[in-house]
Amino acid sequence: MSIAFPPSVSLANLPTPVERLRPPPGYERLPNVYVKRDDLTGAALSGNKVRKLEFCMAEAAAAGADTVITCGGVQSNHARATAVAAARLGLRSILVLRGPEPAESDGNVLIDRLAGAEIRFIDEAEWPRVGRIMAGIEAELEAAGRAGYTIPEGASYPPGVFGYIRAAGEIADAERALGLSFDAIVFAVGSGGTYAGLVYGARIFGLRARILGVNVLDTPEYFADRVAGISEDFVRTYERRYRGEPWFEPIPAGDVEIAGGYDGPAYAVPSGEGIELIRTFARSTGLFLDPAYTGKAMLGLAGEAAKGRWKASNSVLFIHTGGIFSLFPRRKELAPPGTTRSA
Ligand SMILES: Cc1ncc(COP(=O)(O)O)c(C=O)c1O
Repeated sequence: MSIAFPPSVSLANLPTPVERLRPPPGYERLPNVYVKRDDLTGAALSGNKVRKLEFCMAEAAAAGADTVITCGGVQSNHARATAVAAARLGLRSILVLRGPEPAESDGNVLIDRLAGAEIRFIDEAEWPRVGRIMAGIEAELEAAGRAGYTIPEGASYPPGVFGYIRAAGEIADAERALGLSFDAIVFAVGSGGTYAGLVYGARIFGLRARILGVNVLDTPEYFADRVAGISEDFVRTYERRYRGEPWFEPIPAGDVEIAGGYDGPAYAVPSGEGIELIRTFARSTGLFLDPAYTGKAMLGLAGEAAKGRWKASNSVLFIHTGGIFSLFPRRKELAPPGTTRSA
């Protein structure tokens, strides 16, 4: 099967490589793990959100927008990628970030500011109203003779879904090149769009892998419903374009498989085990996982392997979805002890 994609702009370095993981010490009992390096979609403009933004930014351009508006946590990778994509395309950006304004511009916030984003910090208590806050910003812009385009949290709305449909095509190509088919595809779930895209992409490109997300906040049940909801919106939005295509059916919540229990103490806060994993992988494999998403997803892969989910002969694809900038604000917990010595 194939798909006629809607218009997109080119932002990501694609296809991203797929590399075999050399298991670090303590992780020898993993199945054969391959890593799809979506942390290499770019530099400041890197991670999984760039794939989604290729389609979202095309929509913004088609709508005649001069400003893109989006939201997320203070260290949102999605907000940062949106700010950088906007700068690259000559648009302005306004970011609504959850939490108090940090004393220092660190990690993603530094990149946001360097990319010229206007940032509005809101309280946690105001977060449930973030959709209305962004609609208010769009109205403000319109009153000033400008035009805004709002991308919802994580770009997990219909246009964003195409990002990981396209990625699934790359995964099918990698399978052909490697002469294998993956038994599972494992990755972090934060707002559900990556998951929905991979399910559609697997249907279209004939992947037989189980799509296994690892939730980094909330619960597996919450994300099963959220993915189903994204897919219902997707089917409603593209009804005329894809009606009758065999893959074009909503994703039932019961088919969404999420491994829970790896989300740590809170959103973006790693457990002690998570910190140790990030350090071990950095030191022994050169792969830099992050405290909010990919560190937890790898903890999930290792945890599920330890529970016996796979045989040693199985091949599992881990998608490294990016997030490197959020290492910096957590320097106190993450810096390995005793690595310097006076001369
Ligand atoms: C580094 C990283 N990995 C994974 C995710 C999760 O992807 P999604 O929001 O599509 O579930 C995000 C964003 O939330 C992210 O920034």
